[in-house]
Formats: sequence, C-alpha cells, structure tokens
Amino acid sequence: MIMNVLFLGDIVGRPGREAVKKILPGLKGKFEIDVVVANGENLAHGIGITQRSIDEIKDYGVDLLTSGNHIWKRKQALEIVEEDDPFIIRPANYPQGVPGKGWKLIDVAGEKLIVVNLEGRVFMDERLDCPFRALDQILDETKKLKADAIVVDFHAEATSEKKAMGFYAKGRVSAVLGTHTHVQTADEIVFPDGTAYISDVGMVGGKNSILGVKVEQSLSNFLYQIRPKFEVAEGEMEVCGVVLEIQKGKTISIKRIREIV
Ligand SMILES: [Fe+2]
Repeated sequence: MIMNVLFLGDIVGRPGREAVKKILPGLKGKFEIDVVVANGENLAHGIGITQRSIDEIKDYGVDLLTSGNHIWKRKQALEIVEEDDPFIIRPANYPQGVPGKGWKLIDVAGEKLIVVNLEGRVFMDERLDCPFRALDQILDETKKLKADAIVVDFHAEATSEKKAMGFYAKGRVSAVLGTHTHVQTADEIVFPDGTAYISDVGMVGGKNSILGVKVEQSLSNFLYQIRPKFEVAEGEMEVCGVVLEIQKGKTISIKRIREIV
C-alpha cells in the first residue's frame, strides 16, 4: 500500500482550527489522504492547548497532534498529555520525568505509522536533551514494532539544526518535517534513500499576520520592546503543510501545500 500522509504546520488558535475544518475534506479527497497529523502547540488562543480545542480538531478529521515548546503554556496540558492514549505527543527530548509521550504508533488502514516529536536546542530557551540521541533511542526502542512508516516532527528554530537532523535521520525514517517558525520553506527534498525533508512546513494561521499574531501587536513588540498581549490574527488563513506518499517505509514524494481559505 502507498500511505498518503497529510502533515499540517502549527495550527494557530480558533481561526486556524476553523481553516482546518473548512479545508480538510477537500484536501483529503484531492490527495486520497490516509492519515492527518498536525502540530497543535498553538491550538488554544494561539498558544498552548485545551481539551476543548483538541476535541474540536479531532472532530474535524485530524488523527494525531504533535507539539513543541508552547504546549505547556496552560496547566491542563500536563493532564492532557498523560492520558493512556494521548491525542497529542510532546517533544521526546524533554528531561526524564516530564509527562507525556514523545512518539506514538497509529494504525493507518492496517499499516503502522510511528510519529516522533523532537525539539531543537539552537535559539530555543529550553535546556533539553540531545534531539539526535533521542531519535537514536526511539528508533532502537521501536525497531521491534516493525513500523511501515516513521515521520519525525522536528520543532526547531535554526535551519542548520533542522538540516542536520535531516541528514542524521536519512535512510532511517520516512520523513523529517520541520515546524515552529510558521514560515514555509521551499527546500523540500526526497533523499535517494527514501527520506523526505523540509526545513519548515509552515503554519495554519493568518495570511496577513506576523506568524499568526495580529500585525500591529507583534510590530509594537519590535518597535517598543514592550510586549503587548498577543492576539491571533483573523481573516484569510494560509493552510500550510506537506503531503507524503510513503511505501514500505520509504517516501516516494513530498508535496508542499499552501492554500488560502
Ligand atoms: Fe514552537
């Protein structure tokens, strides 16, 4: 079987969630999507998660959420990630003892997809374990599960660190997909050994915004160095992501998606 995976970038707040609701049925039909994974760390009011926002996105047809540094913004995240069968995973390289799971296996029409979540350390505030070694450990640990596809969400700021992860993981996973910057990059590639890579898939957020935040508020932060309350941009939304065609663990193609709704 060829597994068609749709991966959507960071969904920003209610307008982002509504854009997913609008666009998902069409995208699923057009690309014969088997499974939808999205980064959900900005799901609730543009930062963090709530049970309600997660339930909503589940209803719209997303199968699994990944996350990143912003997931902990609201206290309830600690409980949400600790469910036995969590709908959202968190970066695997958080220190031991942090609640939640860093990877998850999901069944996709009888095939096994493992989704791994990692966070970068360059230009990020958290002091995390090495994401490269964390990946090695997960691949070791999951070998016995004989996954049909392994997709990594590498939530990181620096393109250098992301590219490094692409080269480090190539040949061992089906895809390394960058998230966190909210800006889609045009460097998607499938390495000859069947690993797809893109530095950043982009976001699901306001087209006329600064990374999903209202322009005047984000701009004011740069002009005056006093951060106002950030609000999520409304209006036209850009829906960014990629579609992967994966067969026997190897990616055949990666296609960038950027649609305006
Ligand atoms: Fe982030």
